[in-house]
Amino acid sequence: MVRILLYTGKGGVGKTSISAATGLELASRGFKTLVISTDPAHSLRDAFMKTIGNEPVKVRENLYLQEISVTEAIRKYWDNLKLYLTALMRSQGVEGIAAEEIATLPGFDEATELLYIREYANSGQFDVVVMDTAPTGESLKLLSFPEAFSWYMERIFPISRKTAKIMRPLMKPFLGVPIPDDKVFGSIEELYSQMREVKEILSDSAITTIRLVCNPDRMSFNETKRAFTYLLMYGYNVDSVIVNKIYADNTGDFLKKWRESQTEILEEIETAFADLKVMKVPMSANEPTGEKLLKSMADKLYEGIDPMAIMSEVKPPVQFMSEEKGKFVKIRVPFAEKKNTELHNRGGELIVQVDNWRRVFFLPQSMSDLTPINAEFNKGYLIIEMR
Ligand SMILES: Nc1ncnc2c1ncn2[C@@H]1O[C@H](COP(=O)(O)OP(=O)(O)OP(=O)(O)O)[C@@H](O)[C@H]1O
Ligand SMILES: [Mg+2]
Repeated sequence: MVRILLYTGKGGVGKTSISAATGLELASRGFKTLVISTDPAHSLRDAFMKTIGNEPVKVRENLYLQEISVTEAIRKYWDNLKLYLTALMRSQGVEGIAAEEIATLPGFDEATELLYIREYANSGQFDVVVMDTAPTGESLKLLSFPEAFSWYMERIFPISRKTAKIMRPLMKPFLGVPIPDDKVFGSIEELYSQMREVKEILSDSAITTIRLVCNPDRMSFNETKRAFTYLLMYGYNVDSVIVNKIYADNTGDFLKKWRESQTEILEEIETAFADLKVMKVPMSANEPTGEKLLKSMADKLYEGIDPMAIMSEVKPPVQFMSEEKGKFVKIRVPFAEKKNTELHNRGGELIVQVDNWRRVFFLPQSMSDLTPINAEFNKGYLIIEMR
């Protein structure tokens, strides 16, 4: 079975360097490894000092690199949908839509990136896929996409969650818009089920592990706590925090204050993330680019540690519980504040919002006609009673 290791965090903390170093480490341990960048501002090429393309390029024994180009990916995956969009646009008086223009529609880059992930998860081509992602907000958009997409699809098309089939007789024609033909329906259904599959792959704790990269400074620490909370809310598994760019003791007077505050924040990080593995990487004298320096970064990071392993106990981020005293949805949201958390119940759907991130929960059959009647925060969990 494939492993997917996803490194995310605030801008500039070292996601790309850590992903690159991890890739090298895994390859040298004999795993066939792909490091894939989903950040449109690709810098994997700079980390490795190599030319990389839209398809996996082999750079050494067991190591492949890929920087996704959305336009290329759309050409690869979207033939049928392009047909439909072209027809749709034409009916609105817009002539000739090009892949480049489709690429600017919301969601298309997320969707194409996820389709690659699905492909690699299923093909068995690689033992492990290391994902170098864009800064937190973009990664969250990517990771919340599959579910949001399914939700929209279910609203636009009378699509059955069970069979992933569009119920043709229920399909109302939009005004002036051609009803898609069977080929197009087929591709929409395919996309719908593929996105649901992606969600399963990414939520499967045996396959996908998310690692938070941060620096020992206040802003980065705060963002990491929030990211951790949102990721759990979306049902993803996080096993560790990598604190990068720690100043060594011999870094002189000028950095003294920085070292003191780093020490303080490091302690806070250890406490806040006590149930995750916290790993540390020093600030190096040189930019860690090129295989030699990246490998030395990996040596520090993974000394005595298996990068493939799940590094801390998996606590299910979301649980649906039927107990004697009632039915509950239990969501792990360790750093969520009550005043920034909202619950809605709309037409049998449970919607949870923490700060600006919301998730529509697909409730299991046993709860599908229940509504939330009460909610409380308890030891980092949001516990919602359903009746
Ligand atoms: N431990 C380290 N010591 C010294 N320099 C580092 C270290 N880690 C990363 N860097 C440097 O910091 C800069 C940012 O690193 P990197 O590009 O890996 O971060 P990122 O999180 O991927 O950034 P972005 O959010 O832009 O994608 C780069 O110049 C990189 O070489
Ligand atoms: Mg990067």
